[in-house]
Amino acid sequence: MHAVTFRSPFEVACVEVTDPVLEAPTDAIVRVELAAICGSDLHVYRGVEAGLDPGTVLGHEFLGTITAVGAAVQRHRRGDRVVSPFSSCCGACWFCQRGLTSRCQDSQLFGWVQDGRGLQGGQAELVRVPHADASLVAVPADVGLEPALLAGDVLATGFHAAAQGEVGAGDVVVVIGLGPIGLCALLGSKERGAGAVFGVDSVPERLELAARFGGVPLDHSAQDVDAAVRAATGGRGADVVIEAVGHADATALAWRLARNGGTLSVPGVHNEPAFALRPGQLYDKNLTYRTGRAPVRALMPELLARLRRGDLDLAALISHRLPLADAAHGYSLFERKLDRCTKVLLVPDQR
Ligand SMILES: NC(=O)c1ccc[n+]([C@@H]2O[C@H](COP(=O)([O-])OP(=O)(O)OC[C@H]3O[C@@H](n4cnc5c(N)ncnc54)[C@H](O)[C@@H]3O)[C@@H](O)[C@H]2O)c1
Ligand SMILES: [Zn+2]
Ligand SMILES: [Zn+2]
Repeated sequence: MHAVTFRSPFEVACVEVTDPVLEAPTDAIVRVELAAICGSDLHVYRGVEAGLDPGTVLGHEFLGTITAVGAAVQRHRRGDRVVSPFSSCCGACWFCQRGLTSRCQDSQLFGWVQDGRGLQGGQAELVRVPHADASLVAVPADVGLEPALLAGDVLATGFHAAAQGEVGAGDVVVVIGLGPIGLCALLGSKERGAGAVFGVDSVPERLELAARFGGVPLDHSAQDVDAAVRAATGGRGADVVIEAVGHADATALAWRLARNGGTLSVPGVHNEPAFALRPGQLYDKNLTYRTGRAPVRALMPELLARLRRGDLDLAALISHRLPLADAAHGYSLFERKLDRCTKVLLVPDQR
C-alpha cells in the first residue's frame, strides 16, 4: 500500500510499504477514505519532538471502512464505516472506565513508532487499529465524512479544551493560537455560553475564521492584546485562557491575560525542557493550569450526534484536500501557512 512516512525533519514521503495485518484478535484493519495532517504532526515534522523512527507511517486523524476484524471483535464488522480517535484505548481499564481514554493503560498513539515499538499511522491506504471495539466509533449515516473525521481529534480536542477550562455562561475567554484546535476551542466556548471570546494569532485567514466563528480577532503582531482584554474585563483579565499553541511565548501571554482566580486550559503540546512559569506566578494569581492529551474517544459519540444538526461551520476550517501522494506538499503548506492553509485533508483514493 501507499503511506506517508517520516524520513527526517522537513522530509516526509508517500512511499510503498507493507500492508498492515491483524496482529491480535481485538484488532481491525481500516481502509482509509480520509486522513488529515494535524498541528501535532508538525512538532515531529519540524524536528522539535524527537524520537520517531524514520520510516514510521505518520498521522492520527483518519476515517474509513473496515476490511478485516480479529476473532474477538464484536461491535464492528467488515464494511462498517468508522472514525478513529487519535489514540487507541481498551475501554475496560480504570482510566477508560472513568472517561480518561487518552490515558488508557494500553493506549497507543497512531503514527508513533520509537525504537521499533508503537503503532503505525493513518496517513495511509490501510491502518491497523488495536482494541477495535473500544477505539473505533461508527460514523452515523446522516453525518458528513469531513465533519466526522474532525470529531476524532480537532473538534473533540477543542471542545474538551473549553470543558477543561470550565467555560461558563458569560465568561470572557481568550483563545491563543487559531489553528484548527484553537478555532474549535472557540466554537466549544461559544457552545458553553461564553460571552466575548477573543482569538489571538497573527495569520490573517485564521483571524478571519475566528471572526466568522463569532470570536473577536486580535492580531498579536499588530495590536496590544493585553490592553484589549483588560478593556473588556474592567481591568481584571479573562476568566479562561485557552492556550492552543504549545510554545513558551504563548504560556507567558496566557498567564498575563488571565484574571486572578482564572483558569489556563492548555491543549497545546509543549516540547521545551522546562515550564515557562515560576510556581510563584501561578500562586500569585490563584491560577488553575490544566493540560493533557484530550480524551477524545469519550467525547466522540456525543459530538457525532451533535454534528447531525449540521450547524457547525466546520467546512470553513478545511483549506486543502490533496491526494495521499501529495502529502509532502501538504505538510509544507500547513507548516509554512502558505496558500491560506488552515487544515489539510489527505484522500487516498484521489489521484
Ligand atoms: N492536547 C491534545 O490532545 C492535542 C490534540 C491535538 C493537537 N494538540 C496541540 O494543539 C496545538 C495546536 O494544534 P493545531 O492543529 O491547531 O496547530 P497549528 O500549528 O495549525 O496552529 C497553531 C497556531 O498558533 C499560532 N501561534 C504560534 N505562536 C503563537 C503565539 N506566540 N501567540 C499566538 N498564536 C501563535 C500559529 O500562527 C498557528 O495559527 C499543537 O501544539 C498541537 O500539538 C493537542
Ligand atoms: Zn491531531
Ligand atoms: Zn483502557
